[in-house]
Amino acid sequence: MKRIVIMGATSGIGLRVAEIFAKAGWLVGAAGRKEKVLRKLQSDYPEKIRYAQINIDDTDAPNRMRDLINRLGGMDIYFHVAGIGYENEALVTEHDTATAQTNVVGFTRMIDTAFRYFRSHGRRGRIAAVTSVAGTNGIGELASYSASKKYQQTYLTALDQLARMQGLDISFTDIRPGWIRTPLLNPDRIYPMTMTLDHAVVGIVRAIIARKRVCIVDWRWNLLVRAWSLLPDRLWELLPIRVSTQATFAEDKADTKTEKQLQSPESPAKVAVPAPLSPASTTDLS
Ligand SMILES: NC(=O)c1ccc[n+]([C@@H]2O[C@H](COP(=O)([O-])OP(=O)(O)OC[C@H]3O[C@@H](n4cnc5c(N)ncnc54)[C@H](OP(=O)(O)O)[C@@H]3O)[C@@H](O)[C@H]2O)c1
Repeated sequence: MKRIVIMGATSGIGLRVAEIFAKAGWLVGAAGRKEKVLRKLQSDYPEKIRYAQINIDDTDAPNRMRDLINRLGGMDIYFHVAGIGYENEALVTEHDTATAQTNVVGFTRMIDTAFRYFRSHGRRGRIAAVTSVAGTNGIGELASYSASKKYQQTYLTALDQLARMQGLDISFTDIRPGWIRTPLLNPDRIYPMTMTLDHAVVGIVRAIIARKRVCIVDWRWNLLVRAWSLLPDRLWELLPIRVSTQATFAEDKADTKTEKQLQSPESPAKVAVPAPLSPASTTDLS
């Protein structure tokens, strides 16, 4: 039985992906801070879920993760979803430093732990992480968040290079979504091109299974990010990027309509059964 550890499985993307893998018969090591949610997840899938309460900001988080891996009987994929972010136009320092603590320090702590685990257990494995399209360029209203996501993307590139230099068969997947309606977003505000969770997880699970190196979710964000990347820094800095606007009733309805339309072409049921890890079957999810 294949085993995946999901760090940040108590909400949003991580919780949904944990359910998908458990339904598909994988053994899932679910981790996060909210024990109540983890307990409920295990009671929903008693045969498939093991859990551990882990705060990646704590220095003992690697020990807890190794304990979880032992209880699972090993790990084939490490999926790092845990993260925080604030719209912080006012530059509240506590918000910026908390973001760096979790998205940079905590991320590094856990990705290193996964890398070392794979290096010392069979010299192979897979590390996937949810970064963000926000890591493409610095975004004024999301300064620490966008910088932390750029750090994560660069870190994954560096470890990919290191794995090759050390002759390890460890593959990396950097998943960069645009806005997804999860508890991470302020429910009272409208974000451009927002996706439903159901729509976004289709692309996310496919990227993990297919061992994509970088995956921007979804195609509209892919086009936008390509355009952003072409802009010279001096031009980017002149752009007044507004991350969100206050929702009006009409906008709320329009947002919901777009999300419904996005859901129809690809139902989440299509990814309900991830293929096993063997290379021959990894891309066959259609
Ligand atoms: N939603 C979006 O629009 C969007 C877009 C691009 C990228 N992302 C990225 O996707 C990831 C997941 O976000 P989401 O939208 O699913 O948000 P979410 O619903 O708020 O989930 C965040 C998850 O991270 C966990 N987490 C946060 N701090 C942690 C810590 N110190 N230790 C352990 N776990 C921690 C939370 O666990 P607890 O609940 O147990 O605290 C929760 O499971 C984040 O990295 C985010 O940056 C999100």
